[in-house]
Amino acid sequence: MSSEQLLQQIRVNGTVPRHVAIIMDGNGRWARQRNRPREFGHRAGMASVRAVVEAASDAGVEVLTLYAFSSENWHRPHTEVTALMALLELYVRKERRDLKEKGVEVRAVGDLHRLGPRTRAALQSIVDHTRGCERLKLNLAISYGARDEIVNAARRLAERVREGTLMPGEIDEELFQKQLLFAGDPDPDLLIRTSGELRLSNFMLWQLAYTEMYVSELLWPDFGREHLFSAILDFQRRERRFGRVLAG
Ligand code: IPE
Ligand code: IPE
Ligand code: MG
Repeated sequence: MSSEQLLQQIRVNGTVPRHVAIIMDGNGRWARQRNRPREFGHRAGMASVRAVVEAASDAGVEVLTLYAFSSENWHRPHTEVTALMALLELYVRKERRDLKEKGVEVRAVGDLHRLGPRTRAALQSIVDHTRGCERLKLNLAISYGARDEIVNAARRLAERVREGTLMPGEIDEELFQKQLLFAGDPDPDLLIRTSGELRLSNFMLWQLAYTEMYVSELLWPDFGREHLFSAILDFQRRERRFGRVLAG
């Protein structure tokens, strides 16, 4: 089936996941297969980002979260980190105008203080430029780690308890969730990880509690429009139970 036929089928089926999150993995292996440096794979992965953002928007997804750089990725060799940051800046420069025209609001989520001033400024520029766009919300998880996110939430609530403005007994899931970086977004309905790895790698540990998972064997630079559509079609065949027993 062509990607447009897949999209047609998605529309016939009806329910589209509101929030899709993707662990974009396998750039390094893609480059190694071609005897090229890892950076070459990261660069190729940018085309997949472009294709997937457009496809998500066409399918009617409301929120797309892309895991672009984890807090643990800071431990990679300096040259690779530098190359990734340069690519991020390039992505912003190249896509800023187009994303706004397509109605994509970009948000940067993570510990952005660890980024260099130039990368931070680039991200800020795309966030400012696209603010208020309503067709698709695009979260770029950068320098992001879920444990860190949860610890920071706990710390903020503890501060309020110390100030005397909050009682420990008032802390519930809803209040806790509001302190997290993705507060305001629905939890992901569908999580996609490429390159066949079966792990979360410190991604959205709180928000993924009842998310449907889809693992693709494809390396990220090989993942495109039709593969996102296939993942959504797979999701549409799932029966979500949320721990309950369904009638019938
Ligand atoms: C994903 O590809 C991109 C980032 C983590 C930034 P990898 O760089 O992890 O590629 P593999 O997993 O080594 O193939
Ligand atoms: C997860 O991929 C992080 C991103 C995709 C940004 P990694 O390649 O860093 O994860 P591990 O090391 O295989 O768990
Ligand atoms: Mg990897």
